[in-house]
Amino acid sequence: MRCFVTRRLLIDAAEQLGDAVETSVFGEDRAPTADELASGAQDASAIVTQVSDRIDRVLLSRLPRLELVAQAAVGYDNVDVAACRERGIRVTHTPDTLTDSVADLTLGLVLSVTRRFHEGEALLRAQRFRGFSPTLLCGTELDKKTLGIVGYGRIGRAVARRAAAFGMRVIASTRSEEPFAPDGLATHAPFARLLRESDVVTLHVPGTPATRHLIGEPELGAMRRGAFLVNTSRGTVIDEAGLVRVLERGHLGGVGLDVYEEEPRVHPGLLERDDVVLLPHLGSATAEARTRMAATALDEVLRLRRGESARHLVPELLR
Ligand code: DGY
Repeated sequence: MRCFVTRRLLIDAAEQLGDAVETSVFGEDRAPTADELASGAQDASAIVTQVSDRIDRVLLSRLPRLELVAQAAVGYDNVDVAACRERGIRVTHTPDTLTDSVADLTLGLVLSVTRRFHEGEALLRAQRFRGFSPTLLCGTELDKKTLGIVGYGRIGRAVARRAAAFGMRVIASTRSEEPFAPDGLATHAPFARLLRESDVVTLHVPGTPATRHLIGEPELGAMRRGAFLVNTSRGTVIDEAGLVRVLERGHLGGVGLDVYEEEPRVHPGLLERDDVVLLPHLGSATAEARTRMAATALDEVLRLRRGESARHLVPELLR
């Protein structure tokens, strides 16, 4: 059996898969192009993919032997699951391997935007620090402020746990708008009310057609003047052009982004602003999470090899 791994992982894929699997790993430190993916995965039964790989109908038609797309990520919006289903290809992902890492980074972005870390660091590196000043880069305290969590799944709850330690009042909306069972961490708020009441809004929904541009100009305009927005979910959830327009009007206090609408491109209107913190999709970038993500995806290859069922099929294939 052949397996193609589209990026070098934190663990050695060939060693983990052993002799029974002929493993090859794309050698460059970038995502393969469609042609490189098709030729690397030629005759492969399994591919281990990343969020930066486009697994679409055209590619699948070039890989007639493919049986498994093992996505080493929790999100899989880069994979055409319907096309895989039609061809009887399993699609798996790695839920709960990165929950705490993404929640940590989310709180990091909340602190960065509210306390202006990036502006302070830039000032210092530019050798413009003239000593303590009582008026320099004053930010916003989190204690007793309201955090609005949009999407209350595993990561949303992990963010709520951390926010409690900062004394924040936490409200959360669900995609169904159905209230969730009381958990002592957050209280349910419909999306529209959450936008109106939150001092900080953080997004934790998957990237799907239904969540595309969930946050556009009207939603941003409905947020409190001076409120903050953080996104560590998927870039497509925010209409970036609308966000730039709202920032230009001075309506928001600041924005922290880890993901972008057309990654790796970042809207030029965001790049030039001081009230925006930009990270290069680092939510799961810890040794612990990336090791678990790789191991979980490679385990799906071994399960296919042994003739076993998948452990983490994507939800669409469970229906
Ligand atoms: C995921 O798992 O979906 C992340 O975005 C990759 O870090």
